[in-house]
Amino acid sequence: MAEPQRPQQEIQSVLTENRVFPPPEEFSRKAHLRSMEDYHRLRDEAAKDPQAYWGARAREELYWKEPFQTVLDWKPPHARWFVEGRTNLAYNCLDRHLPKLKDKPAILFEGEPGDRRTVTYGELAAQVNRLANGLKSLGVKKGDRVGIYLPMVPEAAVAMLACARIGAVHSVVFGGFSAEALQDRMNDAGAKVLLTADGGWRKGAVVPLKKNVDAALPNMRTIEKVVVARRAGDAGTPGPKDVSWEELVKGQSDTCEPEWVESEHPLFILYTSGSTGKPKGVMHTTGGYSVYASLTTRWVFDLKEDDIYWCTADVGWVTGHSYVVYGPLLNGVTSVIYEGAPTQPGPDRFWEIITRYKISILYTAPTAIRAFMRLGDEIPRKHDLSSLRLLGSVGEPINPEAWMWYRDVIGGGRCPVVDTWWQTETGGIMISPLPGATPTKPGSATFPLPGIHAEILDREGMPVPKGQGGLLFVTHPWPGMLRTVYGDPDRYVKTYFSELPGKYFTGDGARTDADGYIWLMGRVDDVVNVAGHRLGTAEVESALVAHPRVAEAAVVGRPDDLKGTALVAFITLKKGTVPSPELKKELATHVAKEIGAIARPDELRFAEALPKTRSGKIMRRLLRDVAAGKQSTGDTSTLEDLNVLATLRQDEE
Ligand code: WT7
Repeated sequence: MAEPQRPQQEIQSVLTENRVFPPPEEFSRKAHLRSMEDYHRLRDEAAKDPQAYWGARAREELYWKEPFQTVLDWKPPHARWFVEGRTNLAYNCLDRHLPKLKDKPAILFEGEPGDRRTVTYGELAAQVNRLANGLKSLGVKKGDRVGIYLPMVPEAAVAMLACARIGAVHSVVFGGFSAEALQDRMNDAGAKVLLTADGGWRKGAVVPLKKNVDAALPNMRTIEKVVVARRAGDAGTPGPKDVSWEELVKGQSDTCEPEWVESEHPLFILYTSGSTGKPKGVMHTTGGYSVYASLTTRWVFDLKEDDIYWCTADVGWVTGHSYVVYGPLLNGVTSVIYEGAPTQPGPDRFWEIITRYKISILYTAPTAIRAFMRLGDEIPRKHDLSSLRLLGSVGEPINPEAWMWYRDVIGGGRCPVVDTWWQTETGGIMISPLPGATPTKPGSATFPLPGIHAEILDREGMPVPKGQGGLLFVTHPWPGMLRTVYGDPDRYVKTYFSELPGKYFTGDGARTDADGYIWLMGRVDDVVNVAGHRLGTAEVESALVAHPRVAEAAVVGRPDDLKGTALVAFITLKKGTVPSPELKKELATHVAKEIGAIARPDELRFAEALPKTRSGKIMRRLLRDVAAGKQSTGDTSTLEDLNVLATLRQDEE
């Protein structure tokens, strides 16, 4: 097992973490789940008869046009949930609520430049239907893939819901990804139509989405039409495939009969990084994903009708799918969408937003929390954050210090903090406190949700003793699980179900403490979590070696106070290339162009050679040590001789 990426110091500090915060009484009294007895009751019920348990949840959470008879058909590692059922996710997010919630805000939007929009449930339904009809007019049919490459504007939610309404499969690509990354994903998904915008606002500048689309278009083999929304900029001269969003929806009917799809009909494909160079198209299907998103949103965030809920994630990530769009709308609450950067135009943008909309639930990432913590307590303290009643964290391990700061300074000491562990592949939250029930410990995601079987095992499948690190598996299927890797069913089996046959391998290391609390320890594969963004080191390496001056590259993670993990690239250059600071810059920019700014290495180091084992494998553990500064290599300003180290270490690998 590779070493988990949590810094050693950090592991020491969480090992000795013994503060416990029981849920505030006032909070518990009104919560959906009020005590650990509630939790144990549900957990035992689920364990005793999983089919009855999940069947009941599915009937409670969704409207089914056709009921299901089979709750689960499990032929490891392939699951089908709520098999005969037919439903529609857009209907469940919108139509179902309209009799009561037509005039209630579904989305409160704030753009980075300060423009604001309220979209009620009624308006959202009409917009979704118009776009759904528009997509149909472009020839989009049930099962067709539709790409979405949009900024964080209400149209992103409209686009996703319009696809769901007509049974088209959406594949959202994060607006921060480059033209190259977009093109690879669209080709892999075989998308027919791409929904985009002329640009979006980020840090006071326009993200040139349409320009990226234009750059990728000649290589996007399957795209027939590009629908361009107006937002931030200049769409340029329309090309032959361009359709204006506004023109497309103009004159369309605001009603559209939902396509009642089978429960296992694909809902979306979302690309995520794995251990190899090529991102995986994680595929989720309609029934199981919807049930799981709906249930986990209500339980983990203890949703109430009058909550104003803000998840700061981008819809380009799974958090945006499940907890900006689908989970909140399925529950009929108001979801806040903010377009831009957290500190634009100043360091208190987040706190202003919370005060302005009287946000009651905030769900954000440890990286953001740590960045705010650095800016000092005075900034949030100047704002009225008293509307907050619950705080959530997601995406990477949260260190106890940041957890405490979040609780005390942002939550005023009165809000429970839920540290939620899950993945693109799991569809929804898997391990998390239930805020009215679970006593929390700073830095622990606590326990699996009822019905989820998370186990920490060694490579042989044996449970590891308490306190010891092991591999995190999910040993039973759950409705929100991915169904396959799009276009590569073997990779699904190999990546997730081959470490221990039939058991879902998460790629994470974890341990339990004496009280059975789960502590996540970071990835154990070649995936790194940089500022909450998941990247494959192999992806960054292949971007680097695509540069004409690079011979070989090895990319590793190094503990970083702010980002959690920073990227360090060790590079050998082609013969005759002179190493220079300018070349370093050029290579960093090259990676950003190939993948996106989130993949730009934090540090580049030129080496004479990369340390390899006798069989030719790069010694990544050694490089991680070097990157973390554990091993002095003398003057590392230009070229380091890692061969020497490799020779010294050879016996160890
Ligand atoms: C990886 C999944 C889940 C939505 C956002 C990320 C890490 C996620 C936590 C947490 C420790 C966490 C894991 C996981 N991770 N949440 N609360 N504590 N680690 O989704 O991009 O699929 O990344 O993020 O390493 O495997 P993702």
